[in-house]
Amino acid sequence: MKDIFRTKSIKTLIKETEGEKSLKKSLGAFELTMLGIGAIVGSGIFVLTGVAAAKFSGPALVISFIVAGLACAFAALCYAEFAAMIPVAGSAYTYGYAALGEVWAWIIGWDLILEYAVAIGAVAIGWSGYIVNLLKNMGINLPASLVASPYEGGIVNLPAMLIIGVISILLIIGVKESAKFNNLIVAIKLVIIFLFIFLAVGHVKPANWQPFMPYGFNGVLQGAAYVFFAYIGFDAVSTAAEEVKNPQKDLPKGIIASLLICTVLYIVVSAILTGVVPYLNYMNTAAPVAFALEQIGINWGSALVSVGAVFGLTSVLLVMMFGQTRIFFAMSRDGLLPEVIGGINKKTKTPVNSTIIVGVATAIIAGFLPIGIVSELTNIGTLAAFIIVSLGIVVLRKKRPDIKRSFKCPLVPITPIISALACFGLILQLETATKIRFVVWFALGIVVYLAYGRRHSTMNNEIRDEKAGEGKSCEATITN
Ligand code: ALA
Repeated sequence: MKDIFRTKSIKTLIKETEGEKSLKKSLGAFELTMLGIGAIVGSGIFVLTGVAAAKFSGPALVISFIVAGLACAFAALCYAEFAAMIPVAGSAYTYGYAALGEVWAWIIGWDLILEYAVAIGAVAIGWSGYIVNLLKNMGINLPASLVASPYEGGIVNLPAMLIIGVISILLIIGVKESAKFNNLIVAIKLVIIFLFIFLAVGHVKPANWQPFMPYGFNGVLQGAAYVFFAYIGFDAVSTAAEEVKNPQKDLPKGIIASLLICTVLYIVVSAILTGVVPYLNYMNTAAPVAFALEQIGINWGSALVSVGAVFGLTSVLLVMMFGQTRIFFAMSRDGLLPEVIGGINKKTKTPVNSTIIVGVATAIIAGFLPIGIVSELTNIGTLAAFIIVSLGIVVLRKKRPDIKRSFKCPLVPITPIISALACFGLILQLETATKIRFVVWFALGIVVYLAYGRRHSTMNNEIRDEKAGEGKSCEATITN
């Protein structure tokens, strides 16, 4: 049983990234920050803010964003330390392997599948909603049965599946090309948000901010757990670690800068949203930012924001899919998932198989399931991964104080402990059904690990080689 807690040495992890099974290194700090913003600003701000204000937070939505942002900030510092120390594809999964042992790595990886795959499904469904609405405004009505899942009375959500197909192709073509495309759509997304701020700020009526906390502080905390979704994505920066030119410096910069920029934007946007329209008016809107502009009579601005939201959601999809394929890639390289998943195409140098698998799986989720079921699981999966990463920082500082850390999370163990507690606190605010689904997913993961991963782990070979080499060489165990 001891073998399930075996850890990988950091030197081995980095060594595995050199050689044939490696990814092309083409990203810098700027691309990483754009990648982060690309993943972060999406349906959280464009779709969920309205319901969060109307149901949970009221005008104190801004406090909910600050609370969720703070929890993420502590977690981001932990991610930054790991990412700079272990610049290997796979993000938190790989950190778990180095710090806590194989079974924990598997649990995080399994968790991240929940975070990314499910978020991709949710965002694609949101994307489909926006595009269907935009087309309707242009007089093009798609058949209702082809734009909704069977749960919602349709047959299939075709636009949601289609966008996933397009993104998969982009990722297969190559990472640099995808990064360029991402930079462009992130720029459009930011311009649209600034336009919203510029157009709406003059229409804020402070009276709309009263009562500030209609559902009490508990409501604000529930709102924080709900809008936490809006911050998911900064961690995706770390999944690109292996494709970064100067990971030790650029990864911490990319993670922290993207989170900081988005936090400021969210605070400003949420304050304006609740300032221009009474919070209860957002109860039934899936497009609160466009809705707010419509309410103050700026219809052209509302239409532009809708177009921007489509771009925004597209870039979230791009980075989330990118992240998921890299996690699969890393897990299969370690033998915990079948090798066929991690294959790198010689020409494009991208993990084509994992991209296709993620594309097909998430397209099925997006095409046939409703947004409610898929989105609520994303937060819990991510929060659980954040907790394990935070605790991993404390463990590795104790176990391996000698490793060179080019970025150090400040005030360890206080920062990681606050991070873990804050994330746990947010989990407690989520619905019971979500927690039950998470436990089921977790149990399924353990079964898969025991049935497949544990037996096929490449660590088995290393241990075998070590045993064979014992006595002959004292260098069999690789240390940092
Ligand atoms: N943070 C991402 C979004 O809001 C997942 O869409």
